Amino acid sequence: MRKKIVAGNWKMNLNKSEAEILYNDLESKSYPDDVEVIIAPASIYLDSFSNASNVSISSQDVSANSNGAFTGEFSAEMLSSINLRFAIVGHSERRTFHKETDLLIFQKVEMLLKHGITPIFCCGESLFDRESKNHFKVVKSQLSQILSNLSSEDFSKIVIAYEPVWAIGTGLTADPQDAQDMHFFVRGLILEAFGKDISDKTSILYGGSCKPSNSKELFSMKDIDGGLIGGASLDSESFESIINSF
Ligand code: 13P
Repeated sequence: MRKKIVAGNWKMNLNKSEAEILYNDLESKSYPDDVEVIIAPASIYLDSFSNASNVSISSQDVSANSNGAFTGEFSAEMLSSINLRFAIVGHSERRTFHKETDLLIFQKVEMLLKHGITPIFCCGESLFDRESKNHFKVVKSQLSQILSNLSSEDFSKIVIAYEPVWAIGTGLTADPQDAQDMHFFVRGLILEAFGKDISDKTSILYGGSCKPSNSKELFSMKDIDGGLIGGASLDSESFESIINSF
């Protein structure tokens, strides 16, 4: 009933010719009908890949502002003008290195929704939060803006990605049952805020050292609807194998 999604976050990797080779490779493959395959290349390549038909293209970020004197930024309207359908927001690397707050991330979500773009909203706790057993509390607070301030119609357009920070790029993957427990918890928060229909339909992706050797087990969990993949999405065979893991 929920949409299955595998999204590749290329982060700040690949020069133009490397990105084109990977893109062409992924565009030429065939995927299961019930899986939406998304790639998020660096922003300077988005326009040249925007005619993709086999994969969907996502931005890795967006400005919280609509237009004007914001050097280096790009707006949701610009993304919409090149027909982009997805944008990642609130990735832990932006929360950490660019000091993005929950409020700023919420403003980005609003901008995207206004321009018909689906936010892939990232949340996830640090190792410190998990070790101090605050992981549920931290994720709940990261979600509080979108749970409290969006209409149910707007919320129904969002994809959530749970990415425990300690699992990103470290080779440490969350135990599938621990990941499932967090996904179940997040779905419960959505249920409380927006009711059963929306909570049943919201896709919640897992991210953090997801790779061919663990994707099957992760994706078999009841509340895990796919993955947001970093390192393993830079290799077409690994990425394809993850896509075929449901
Ligand atoms: P890795 O798969 O490299 O751990 O990265 C996950 C991630 O941050 C995807 O957004």
